[in-house]
Amino acid sequence: MDTLLAADAELDPKRLAEAFQAFSQASDELAAAYGALERQVESLTAELAAANAEANRLREEAERNKRLAAMGEMAAQLAHQLRTPLAAALLYAGNLENPDLSSDSRTSIARKTVDRLKHLERLIQDMLLFARGEVLGRENFPVDDLLTDLAHTCEPLAARRQVDFRIAGRSSGALMTGNRKALAGALTNLVENAIQAVAAGGVVTLAAVCRDDQAILSVSDNGRGMTPDVVARLFEPFFTTRSDGTGLGLAIARGVARAHGGSIDVRSAPGVGTEFIITLPLTQSSCRNA
Ligand SMILES: Nc1ncnc2c1ncn2[C@@H]1O[C@H](COP(=O)(O)OP(=O)(O)O)[C@@H](O)[C@H]1O
Ligand SMILES: [Mg+2]
Repeated sequence: MDTLLAADAELDPKRLAEAFQAFSQASDELAAAYGALERQVESLTAELAAANAEANRLREEAERNKRLAAMGEMAAQLAHQLRTPLAAALLYAGNLENPDLSSDSRTSIARKTVDRLKHLERLIQDMLLFARGEVLGRENFPVDDLLTDLAHTCEPLAARRQVDFRIAGRSSGALMTGNRKALAGALTNLVENAIQAVAAGGVVTLAAVCRDDQAILSVSDNGRGMTPDVVARLFEPFFTTRSDGTGLGLAIARGVARAHGGSIDVRSAPGVGTEFIITLPLTQSSCRNA
């Protein structure tokens, strides 16, 4: 290029001057265009940042609204659950004022009032367990001790309903770390459900095995079983098919299993029976019957 220009300049200095002028004008224009482009990029970048910030703000607002809506829904559900037994208790208590009541009716109405208030108390108790979610307090204990706790709690419940309650399998000294009381409560819920599902003479079995450093605790019954649409809703808080149920037993059991790093599964067939299986991690290498 230099040689070409030099050759041109030799040929015609005037044309060289013109060429330089044109070149300098073009480069000025180019610099101006570049400056304009840079300003445009800056302004577009600023616009993009503002749009991103707005999108983030809108997303956060949507999430907050969703949380508030869920809380509102939960509060409405809780209020409804509490109001139902309370309204019934108030109605019964109001009836007690009737001076013409026979003493038998008065006793019967008083019993119904207490019954509804007890249901209310149970509901509040279960809601607290459910809301707590996380299980506080952990200890190391043998799985067999948990089974012994359950035998003490569940045998009288089963005997009262003439149900045959069996404990099958022991875990050969396997150790678990967790909240023993919460776990016993969760398993008691499963056993209570099973006892309620069988007729007198039915069998409820609690079994424990350990495998691959996991405890597998199952509660099975030969009761009425469940249809797939009931199974699909089992763990929903407040889902119950019983008039005196709170519908929180299984929601709590699942919460406790998960808080221990475990899980809960179910298998059921109408008219045949049901099995709930809780799988929980064991304290490392304590599983000796694998
Ligand atoms: N072993 C079982 N056999 C048949 N139905 C069961 C069994 N366990 C649970 N269920 C069903 O699941 C529902 C929810 O159980 P749960 O959460 O413990 O609440 P609740 O016992 O207060 O009804 C029960 O109402 C019942 O319909
Ligand atoms: Mg229950």
